[in-house]
Amino acid sequence: MISGAGEGKGVGVADSYTIIDNRTGKSVEVPIENGGISSRALRELDPNIFIYDPAFLQTAACRSSITFLDGDNGILRYRGYPIQDLAEQSSYLEVAYLIVHGELPSRAEFEKWTHDITFHTYVHENVRKRFMDGFHHDAHPMGILVATVGALSTFYPEAKNIADPEVRMRQVVRLIAKMPTLAAFAHRFSIGLPFVFPDNSLDFASNFLSMMWKIAEPRFESDPVLARALDQLFILHADHEQNCSTTAMRVVGSAHADPFSSTAAACAALYGPLHGGANEAVVRMLTEIGSLENIEPFVAAVKEGKARLMGFGHRVYKSYDPRARIIKATAERVFEVTGRNPLLDIALKLEEIALADEYFISRRLYPNVDFYSGLIYQAMGFPVDMFPVLFAIPRTAGWVAHWLELLGDPEQKISRPRQIYVGPPERPYVPIRDRN
Ligand code: SDX
Repeated sequence: MISGAGEGKGVGVADSYTIIDNRTGKSVEVPIENGGISSRALRELDPNIFIYDPAFLQTAACRSSITFLDGDNGILRYRGYPIQDLAEQSSYLEVAYLIVHGELPSRAEFEKWTHDITFHTYVHENVRKRFMDGFHHDAHPMGILVATVGALSTFYPEAKNIADPEVRMRQVVRLIAKMPTLAAFAHRFSIGLPFVFPDNSLDFASNFLSMMWKIAEPRFESDPVLARALDQLFILHADHEQNCSTTAMRVVGSAHADPFSSTAAACAALYGPLHGGANEAVVRMLTEIGSLENIEPFVAAVKEGKARLMGFGHRVYKSYDPRARIIKATAERVFEVTGRNPLLDIALKLEEIALADEYFISRRLYPNVDFYSGLIYQAMGFPVDMFPVLFAIPRTAGWVAHWLELLGDPEQKISRPRQIYVGPPERPYVPIRDRN
């Protein structure tokens, strides 16, 4: 039995749980600290009894000071700064510095950070000339990214020396700097265009757009509204505490794998349609719905469990994802430049119907970061299969920040959860000649 004391507690009642093993009457009191209780108490009671928590719905795997989420109130802060302030007033590179270092940079720190990132955007020529060419002509760019970021570990063998803080930070800079280059190369390969090298005179988002779209002009000039919108989208996607891909980064990093291999694992997790692949799935879903008339039958199919409303729902946000609100406002500014995405009307009507429908209300399903982001990317000319790649580029800052935090946490060690065994009891081996 577990009895808790805390909120609404009587005078003198401790902030703690008391766990009683009813088989023995043995009990242990465990303090509630920072919203959690330590599993150590359970090990004291009986080391062979485990908490069963598939998908970790009620499990904190670490202490972190990087991102704070309040799912009930739709709050997201990076290192204490509200996402709304950062999206409106900061830049992706400044936010990446904040997430990695924990504080906003001084002018001098930001100039050095920007210089370091800018001068690490190139990748080894073997990646460009030999590795990329090995893919099939229609390889999905996210599959290319997973492979190429992992391959970078072979070009920087020093990265295995994770005990050295300077080596760690050099790989952090390399990863943040090179992801846009690998992403743009993956796109250019998939459409048979020559690769465009990084232009160090451009800012982070404009350089990525140049590597994506530059053809024969001497220098690519991106529309400032689109470059700013992309930079804002990068800010909104930079981190999101213990999401699936960041968990993958931490689990692989806990084995002391190098950061490139750990980032490849994080990219692979993000590739999943329930995670980073959702914005691609949203656009495919809206395209399939095709018209306002088809919304009601689609919603009916969702309620019958025959389809999923991609871009809706979240493990933490049981209210409107604050990022979705900001993205919705950004969309209007982008569409003033690119022309309105016809799928927006379907998305707006779908949201209106879903938010008024008991099925979604009772399950606390609201638009998440992916519901509108794909519409912006599509209006900006990105092919749909590039959408998860556009998620991976900025999320690299979060992944490497959590990797650094993990390695600096004295309570962390290699991740190795236990299980509840439900397989067959011991049984003797029967040679095949004797098996019926
Ligand atoms: C991201 O973790 C992060 O922070 C992720 C992220 C980040 O920044 O890293 O925010 C980015 O991954 C956003 C989520 C993108 N994924 C999608 O939009 C895919 C569609 N969403 C769902 O698959 C789902 O909502 C999840 C995966 C996001 C969350 O799944 P949960 O928390 O495991 O919830 P669940 O599957 O247990 O659903 C609870 C109920 C179920 O109904 P019942 O079985 O109780 O009847 O809600 C239903 C689900 O069927 N449900 C949906 C739904 N999402 C949940 N029904 C229809 N459409 C949906 N989208």
